[in-house]
Amino acid sequence: MSTIRVAIDGPSGAGKSTLARSAAGKLGFVYVDTGAIYRTIGLYVCQNHIDPEDGEAVPAALESIYVDLRYDGEGRQQMLLNGRDVSQDIRLPEISRFASAVSALPAVRAHLLELQRALGRVHNVIMDGRDIGTVVLPDAEVKIYLTAAPRARAERRCRELERRGTPQPFEEVLRDIEARDWRDIHRAAAPLRMAEDAVLLDTTGLDFQESEKALLDIIRERTGL
Ligand code: DC
Repeated sequence: MSTIRVAIDGPSGAGKSTLARSAAGKLGFVYVDTGAIYRTIGLYVCQNHIDPEDGEAVPAALESIYVDLRYDGEGRQQMLLNGRDVSQDIRLPEISRFASAVSALPAVRAHLLELQRALGRVHNVIMDGRDIGTVVLPDAEVKIYLTAAPRARAERRCRELERRGTPQPFEEVLRDIEARDWRDIHRAAAPLRMAEDAVLLDTTGLDFQESEKALLDIIRERTGL
């Protein structure tokens, strides 16, 4: 029996992971956060003092990196780096920069492609990232491009950082989001862009419930679930 694959792409801070995880729970699908996989590579590179933009040193390090995904009872994805749970460490703000830099390297993307595709062959998935509908699962049953205005995303990120006890000034967060958007959109390898057959979902001005309903409506309409 073939699986159902929902691809969600969009810029950082659009609420992809929270919405996708919640929607996956409601549908009984596995939620795959591919950003967490890039973050795990970024963490290794940071911890081992490797320049994240070094197109030779980072690919060479890949053979020493064993990345695995695990799910807890609530369907939360946990990341293992060489057997160690790094789910918290990869969320540190400085790791975002490392993740963004390593994700621009074609060798890193190629290395992670099969891992991501394999997950979509085994489970019904909602997979989120930047190139899921365009590169990883180009024949996904449902493709959604989820976005929101940069200021709205910065406000949400600020609230989230506050909840985690690591607050950051709004202007700094906004600058960070805009810089990351620029890098993700302008990189040569698998740049962030909307797949031609994706549905656009803009959550600026929508609260969580409204966004989730819109997301589930699109998925149900396309799959008949
Ligand atoms: O979604 P996130 O912020 O956790 O992603 C971390 C970085 O990884 C971000 O800079 C974009 C990159 N990324 C990517 O290039 N491709 C993906 N499929 C997912 C994330």
